[in-house]
Amino acid sequence: MLRSLFIAAAGSSRLERLVESAPVSKGLARRFVAGSSADEALRVSRELADDGLAVTLDHLVEDTRTIEQAVTVRDEYVSLLGRLRDSGLTPAAEVSVKLSALGQRIDEKLAREHAHAICAAAAEAGTSVTLDAEDHTTTDATLETLLALREEFPNTGAVLQAHLRRTEGDCRELSTAKSRVRLCKGAYSEPESVAFQSALDVDKSFVRCLNILMSGEGYPMVATHDPRLIAIGEDRARWFDRSTGEYEFQLLYGVRPDEQARLAAGGHTVRVYLPYGEQWYGYLMRRIAERPAGMGFVAKVVTSR
Ligand code: FDA
Repeated sequence: MLRSLFIAAAGSSRLERLVESAPVSKGLARRFVAGSSADEALRVSRELADDGLAVTLDHLVEDTRTIEQAVTVRDEYVSLLGRLRDSGLTPAAEVSVKLSALGQRIDEKLAREHAHAICAAAAEAGTSVTLDAEDHTTTDATLETLLALREEFPNTGAVLQAHLRRTEGDCRELSTAKSRVRLCKGAYSEPESVAFQSALDVDKSFVRCLNILMSGEGYPMVATHDPRLIAIGEDRARWFDRSTGEYEFQLLYGVRPDEQARLAAGGHTVRVYLPYGEQWYGYLMRRIAERPAGMGFVAKVVTSR
């Protein structure tokens, strides 16, 4: 119930104005978002690097509706990658990109060109790009773009969502040498025809996919906060004899920081997904929706409307 309220709140511009204007919510946002500017993203990336954590930076964009907006997003990533290189944060820092933010819904070819420009900037900076996964209607197009980009930039990362029924097959196809694949549960609400609906079925699918990726030739990126799945990830890395540098764990900034530190101290590569940007409201609501309890002020505002 609370979860769906917060998901609905993520799309409300009236609530957005209310929450954004309250100083306390800026404090809450800082727990999950590096800040609104690239300067702040670089500062937090440095702090995390000092703690032995790698990052993947995400420039938050809620809705790209025009070509001009898509060009602005592309330019932001290109500039960010130059700054990451100049600050000595690459290769440990990489970027995560949503094709929708680059204009996929307006013009697929253009979004691909923008992604190409970002991959070229990443290559120049000595690092890589991961293409975030969005709702299932975009999976085919995103994977096609991925394969096209990989011809020139083979280290471009894919994201596969365990809740989709097709994902086991996608894991097999993408489990090739050096193929970087982030496995997550999947954040979008999907129909039963394409996605497992129960948490147990999603978890079981996650483990089947993990087995394929860990036993394959690629580079698995295990993206979850779920203690049971992390333990299975650690077990499979041992079982399939993968040493540090042959897989990694990924967690969101601000979520289970103690676990991030524990994994890093245990010799695993840990990458923190670090969002930044002015448009933090929707992202914050989605994080709160995952664990609404204890979010005091924002919960009060949302439930009183
Ligand atoms: P889930 O939310 O089901 O939680 C399982 C258990 O984990 C909980 O019961 C609790 O024990 C523990 N837990 C979870 N959150 C906690 C918290 N805040 N504090 C303490 N314990 C907590 N999705 C997508 O569709 N496309 C994408 O590209 C990405 N990319 C991505 C990158 C990275 C690095 C991550 C970590 C996640 C994504 N996701 C994503 C999101 C992903 O699909 C999923 O929605 C969230 O990670 C939530 O699922 P979990 O696996 O964390 O477990």
